[in-house]
Amino acid sequence: MSQNTTKRARGVKLTDRLIARNMRFDTPLIWKGKVEDFLEVIPRTPVFKLIVTSPPYNIGKRYEKETKRLDEYLATHRRVIQDLIPRLQPTGSVCWQVGTFVSNGEILPLDFEFHQIFRELGLRLRNRIIWRFGHGLHSRRRFRGRYEVILWYTKSNDYTFNLDAVRIPSKYPGKRSYKGKKKGAYSGHPLGKNPEDVWDIPNVKGNHVEKTDHPCQFPVGLIERLVLALTNPGDIVFDPYAELLQYQQFRLRSHQPVEQDSPHKPNQQN
Ligand SMILES: C[S@@+](CC[C@H](N)C(=O)[O-])C[C@H]1O[C@@H](n2cnc3c(N)ncnc32)[C@H](O)[C@@H]1O
Repeated sequence: MSQNTTKRARGVKLTDRLIARNMRFDTPLIWKGKVEDFLEVIPRTPVFKLIVTSPPYNIGKRYEKETKRLDEYLATHRRVIQDLIPRLQPTGSVCWQVGTFVSNGEILPLDFEFHQIFRELGLRLRNRIIWRFGHGLHSRRRFRGRYEVILWYTKSNDYTFNLDAVRIPSKYPGKRSYKGKKKGAYSGHPLGKNPEDVWDIPNVKGNHVEKTDHPCQFPVGLIERLVLALTNPGDIVFDPYAELLQYQQFRLRSHQPVEQDSPHKPNQQN
């Protein structure tokens, strides 16, 4: 049997296991290696309901052996995204969380660049979510950067969006209409309001309870909102650039405890 056939057989077996495990609401399946190699061996079947990630930003973090030229960096990611899309379910979503590339004080928002790629590949942008946080680098010659962006795309116009699962407390709970036919009736939604597209969620720095020694963790609250809104129980979520798998740290809708398979240990288990 050729090496490629063996690899592919391994990929099919792995996908079958992935589906079977998920159906049993079991612990997550972890591929320890590069996403490019994973995508090479799994079948081009639309198994993922949500692909959610924060890719390397090409800013010299310790897991980036070298910073590439921007065009090379984008070409690498374009190939991965191109290979991800056939694995996304027709009602599925992609959430791509990126920040800003800074060179000689000039900033380049990576979402500008990634949007071209997703658009050309036929995905539809539903929200450009601003994730605002309190800690980051200081600046003397421009305003401090205190937000990053989550690009939420769907594959089609028919997509899962469970707004009720992620409503937040209303600004004025108990507010009533003061005129018209509904005068006196509650005017807000009983489950709270739509969380809108600017999310204030502390980033995982310093003494944050979720902090490990990884330099750029997803906060659990951020990934949780995306998973609850964009998937249904039993759906498969894929993070192509996970290291800590934050979304495992809360109980997914299966209501099962999850395991963490990472060398990084949080400050405190919650
Ligand atoms: C911006 S961090 C995202 C971390 C993630 N949000 C978390 O909390 O685990 C990017 C991650 O991608 C991983 N990575 C870099 N290149 C990769 C590749 N080719 N395949 C898979 N993962 C990769 C790095 O190890 C790093 O942990």
